[in-house]
Amino acid sequence: MAHALSERGGVGPCAGAVLGRGANRVVVADPSDPACCLKMELPVSLRTAVGMRARLRRRLGRVFPRLGENATELRAWCRLSASLGPEMLAGRIAESLEIVHGPAGSALRCAMVIDDDGRPAQSLHALMGAPGLFTADALCAAVDDFERWLHRHAIPLLDLNAGNFVVAGTHEPRLVCVDAKSLLAGKELLPVSRWIPALRRRKIARRAERLRQRIRAELGTPVNLR
Ligand SMILES: Nc1ncnc2c1ncn2[C@@H]1O[C@H](COP(=O)(O)OP(=O)(O)O)[C@@H](O)[C@H]1O
Ligand SMILES: [Mg+2]
Repeated sequence: MAHALSERGGVGPCAGAVLGRGANRVVVADPSDPACCLKMELPVSLRTAVGMRARLRRRLGRVFPRLGENATELRAWCRLSASLGPEMLAGRIAESLEIVHGPAGSALRCAMVIDDDGRPAQSLHALMGAPGLFTADALCAAVDDFERWLHRHAIPLLDLNAGNFVVAGTHEPRLVCVDAKSLLAGKELLPVSRWIPALRRRKIARRAERLRQRIRAELGTPVNLR
């Protein structure tokens, strides 16, 4: 998957640094614009195994590009930005810019999230495997803060897993969501938790709590030995 933009507007064979990989896409720095990154959908053989419904969605995405991960995420970001205003999403959900096409396929161009030192921000998932950089308490406080923001603006972002967040802020960690697909696409057959506010709040609270528990399980809670 060593493909990236060779020039603005097309995906060519020159490689940008890999920033991360999720279940569906590999994300590389955009060689034509240091402020951006490119998300490329992985071929079926390289994707992480998922359940039946997600498999069906992936298959539909191959037949109808409009239903693919990149198109879904771009649509999700544009809709939320149109309803709340882009300034409301700044620093919370990474901006999806456009889909670009080239000889090696298509990619979603997004704003790259950087940390206070100007480097690409690391995923929460990576930081949970790197004890010493942030404490469990500090990362859990960042989850609390993000959860409050979702509730305050009634945002149905339901896939709160550690790979979907990067951590900006070197002293005080701040979560930025880099995968907004779940605003529109989920595992449910009938997405009632998107329609009914009480169910949405409950689901977000449950998923945020599960994320905090995972952080504590990975990084532990400091024990005062005295
Ligand atoms: N805008 C971004 N800025 C910095 N890193 C990013 C950005 N988008 C994605 N990443 C990195 O790529 C990884 C996978 O991205 P993601 O969109 O969640 O892929 P998938 O759709 O496969 O789940 C993230 O965990 C993160 O490390
Ligand atoms: Mg993801």
